[in-house]
Amino acid sequence: MKIGRCDCGAGYPVVRLRRLRTTPSVRDLLQETHLSVKDLISPIFVQERITKRETIQSMPGIERIPPSEIINEVQTVLDLGIRAIMLFGIPFYKNKRDGSAFLEHGIVQDSVRVVRKHFGSRVAIITDVCLCQYTTHGHCGIVVKGKIDNDKSVRTLAKVATSHAEAGTDMVAPSAMMDGQVKAIRKGLDENGFEDVAIISYSAKHASPLYGPFRDIACSRPQFGDRRTYQMSFTNPREAMHEIEQDIREGADIIMIKPAIPYLDLIYQAKKNTNLPICAYSVSGEYALIKAAAGKGLIDEDSVMTESLTSIKRAGADLIITYYAKKMAALLNE
Ligand code: PBG
Ligand code: ZN
Repeated sequence: MKIGRCDCGAGYPVVRLRRLRTTPSVRDLLQETHLSVKDLISPIFVQERITKRETIQSMPGIERIPPSEIINEVQTVLDLGIRAIMLFGIPFYKNKRDGSAFLEHGIVQDSVRVVRKHFGSRVAIITDVCLCQYTTHGHCGIVVKGKIDNDKSVRTLAKVATSHAEAGTDMVAPSAMMDGQVKAIRKGLDENGFEDVAIISYSAKHASPLYGPFRDIACSRPQFGDRRTYQMSFTNPREAMHEIEQDIREGADIIMIKPAIPYLDLIYQAKKNTNLPICAYSVSGEYALIKAAAGKGLIDEDSVMTESLTSIKRAGADLIITYYAKKMAALLNE
């Protein structure tokens, strides 16, 4: 224990912690954790073959956008000072295997090309790499006889990641929770000359009901069973660290913990145990909870948003993916 003033055990009334809380300017001077717009990553959902922005009831304020709107959307994000987007595609076709997940002109691939062409390196593009939006059964891997086949899935995920790299993404974010996916993706990228494309791995991704609103917006709800044979249980913190260790060994550049608010202990532990940058994904349900309570007048939205996101940073996250990115940035810029 560090002792500040003297080691004589002085406490109150010599020590008064309230002295440094007297006015806003004094408090500002002593602020320890600072959330910046540069910490924020804004998710974008692009849907194939729609012509107007669409909203859904479970995620007020978040839209599915048509390909024609993507430049506007990225411009809005950049104007707020945010430097990174997380791109999700909602394809027109789904099938039993992998749908259009690695097509040269799939929805994500084409969106990446448009953004890259228009904005050059002014925006960091991150693409989610998974199969659940592309398969009719809605699972994150390839299903063989009712089970998710790990190694087949991993081979396909590597193709998906490489196709995103070919389109010009900066980072790929594998979210399928298949064993060996980071290794296979790194190999696939390197063999195709994409040594500089980074992997931001959803390392400790938990099976969570907080993904509900996302599945509505991304049309990716599993049509049978659930995701518990691949996503983690919220009861197993040591296993979460093991997942992170494995991803680091396999070549991840950034590790991710998801959801964020109920998992701050894991963010903190990951920060202590590794020197890699840490990303936290504050998921759709976390957003929906605040929105719903604020909508009923039960809490103040801006304050709860600020407290939640700053606390994720305080726990140890270097980067935060949040549906509040734009709103938080606007508030930080005030
Ligand atoms: C797809 C994916 C999901 C999320 C990110 N990528 C959903 C899932 O695993 O069902 C969740 C994001 C959120 O809830 O905001 N694998
Ligand atoms: Zn998935």
